[in-house]
Amino acid sequence: MKAIVYTQYGSPEVLELRDVEKPIPKDNEILIRIRATAVNSGDVRLRKADPFAVRLFFGLFKPKINLLGSVFSGEIESIGSGVQRFKVGDDVFGHTDMSFGTYASYKCFPEKGSIALKPTTITHQEVAVIPFGGTTALHFLKKASIQKSQKVLIFGASGAVGTAAVQLAKYFGANVTGVCSTINVDLVKSLGADKVIDYTKEDFSKNGETYDVIFDTVNKMSISDSLRSLKVCGTLILSAAGFSEMVQGTWTSITSSKKIKVLNGIISHTAEDINFLKMLIDADQLKPVIDRTYSLEQMVEAHTYVEKGHKKGNIAIEIY
Ligand SMILES: NC(=O)c1ccc[n+]([C@@H]2O[C@H](COP(=O)([O-])OP(=O)(O)OC[C@H]3O[C@@H](n4cnc5c(N)ncnc54)[C@H](OP(=O)(O)O)[C@@H]3O)[C@@H](O)[C@H]2O)c1
Repeated sequence: MKAIVYTQYGSPEVLELRDVEKPIPKDNEILIRIRATAVNSGDVRLRKADPFAVRLFFGLFKPKINLLGSVFSGEIESIGSGVQRFKVGDDVFGHTDMSFGTYASYKCFPEKGSIALKPTTITHQEVAVIPFGGTTALHFLKKASIQKSQKVLIFGASGAVGTAAVQLAKYFGANVTGVCSTINVDLVKSLGADKVIDYTKEDFSKNGETYDVIFDTVNKMSISDSLRSLKVCGTLILSAAGFSEMVQGTWTSITSSKKIKVLNGIISHTAEDINFLKMLIDADQLKPVIDRTYSLEQMVEAHTYVEKGHKKGNIAIEIY
């Protein structure tokens, strides 16, 4: 089968299209013919081993897992003898968690993985881009116990996590302010944000408004400045925090007189979460945002674009 393989950390050029062995499902696994995947910011981090801590988990000198890609949509080609949740021919989508390997024509998954039946109203490409931002936004908004009518500010509202966070926070009944640059203001409004702040023209932390939840999706916000804009007992979500921001966040939660809660760390998800996202898509409450679509053969270009850090929503990859 076709797959994008990387055997060393580095620039997008380390990604090579190769023929590799097609996997065979175990008793509890399904084999998926992948029709679409996405290039996410997380894939870029793994490819570059950035931050350095990536090497501690994924291989000190070279990657231990040689196939990237964490999201997919496709159809089930065959199943193991013990599989009960799915049948051959089902269209499914989901997230691989830490097993990766969706930059390929086929992948085996345990049937109990973060997988759900694909919504019928959107294409493989459209649904493949949902799980990365969708599970991240859902994980943190649930941890923040988001409540109806709360004021929520999403910083980095035009990225993969941001576009999902705006839509999910609206679904949970919040009053949402999105922060993005001029070019993305209309996009963020179209996703349902009640207010949009253009960060090139206005610093949200200086306008006197306060929020119950501030969700920084891109790690570009000043933690100390944002404290001014957080209500007493508010929640600060730092989903993209590196080690130093995690330390700063924890220190701030201990020392701030506002008694704030700070959330960060690696997300987790289940099949239930993917089913929840499917329900939102079916109900027209969650829409995919796709900036560009590339083929598997154009993976180097796709990574080069994502690495610039200014994509609008997501980058889809078609797999023929
Ligand atoms: N905790 C976890 O387990 C977890 C899970 C998933 C992702 N993450 C992390 O979350 C981060 C974001 O992921 P993503 O995929 O959403 O990123 P992304 O899609 O690459 O973000 C792109 C967006 O960031 C915005 N942006 C760039 N510079 C900005 C700035 N200075 N101020 C405000 N916005 C800015 C861009 O808008 P403009 O072009 O308008 O500037 C662009 O739309 C990554 O670092 C990823 O590793 C963490």
